Amino acid sequence: MHVLAPAKINLHLRVGPRRDDGFHPLMTWMCTIGLFDSLTFEISGAAPREFKLRCDRPELPCGADNLVCKAAAALAARGSEPLGVDCFLKKSIPSGAGLGGGSGDAARTLAALNQLCQLGFSLAELEKLAARIGSDVPFFLHEPSAICRGRGEEIEKVPAPRARWALLILPAIHCPTPRIYQQFDAMQLGQEAALRDIPSRAWTQLAAMELLPLLINDLEAPAFALFPELAALRDRIERTLNRPVRMSGSGSSLFTLFDNDEPCEQARQSLAPEIDARILSVPICPSPDDDLA
Ligand code: C5P
Repeated sequence: MHVLAPAKINLHLRVGPRRDDGFHPLMTWMCTIGLFDSLTFEISGAAPREFKLRCDRPELPCGADNLVCKAAAALAARGSEPLGVDCFLKKSIPSGAGLGGGSGDAARTLAALNQLCQLGFSLAELEKLAARIGSDVPFFLHEPSAICRGRGEEIEKVPAPRARWALLILPAIHCPTPRIYQQFDAMQLGQEAALRDIPSRAWTQLAAMELLPLLINDLEAPAFALFPELAALRDRIERTLNRPVRMSGSGSSLFTLFDNDEPCEQARQSLAPEIDARILSVPICPSPDDDLA
């Protein structure tokens, strides 16, 4: 079985004050983008029955801490026997970029193994397992576009934005999520008022240049405090393209939006000689063609 796991961007990300459990309440609008990891799953006849992960990136740990293995373990723990499956993961989504790469892989693993091994879990059961694996995992069971609240696990599906293309900038900066939240706390950021609902249906109808100025990411301030070079890069891109640029999640990826593909590709070409970062022009809320489609 072949499955594609898309990356996400947080179009809008508001963060409240730290809760007693250490997590932060969120109100975020997330969308998938056309940047995918690829996963293949095969039932294995080998004894003992076990879930085995291999990956095309030698630097990526393939042990129990990998979110793909956590997803397989969560399913096996609810069943009567271990899952005898070989999985190969081909990574394209960078980690420490705020693109939910590991979370998307985990969610697609839950859905794929449920089908491949005929485990019979309902979507509600998969959601519970997903929330335990990570805050962003439940979204990927409900992509491509949703408002997420709580620590990220309360999902309300919304239409895809009218702005259907994103210019994605991937600087060579690794932003560890817990460190960005710690800095957020140290800077005493986080207001309950930030979590107020947005008129999400109305926002989905806006053109890119109407929507962009409304978008806020409360994790930009701590990320830019820890990585001033990221703030400088954002300013430079905004000046070059003459449009607002936002950070996704806890960073370090940056994005801006376009209504369609041509101006997005033109912007990619004009930016490429100006900055030292990978730049991609990607569709928003794509429909991947894989064995779960
Ligand atoms: O849930 P996940 O494992 O992805 O979270 C990684 C870290 O990000 C958490 O340990 C926590 O420090 C921080 N986090 C948070 N509030 C959230 C989501 C994540 O503080 N809503």
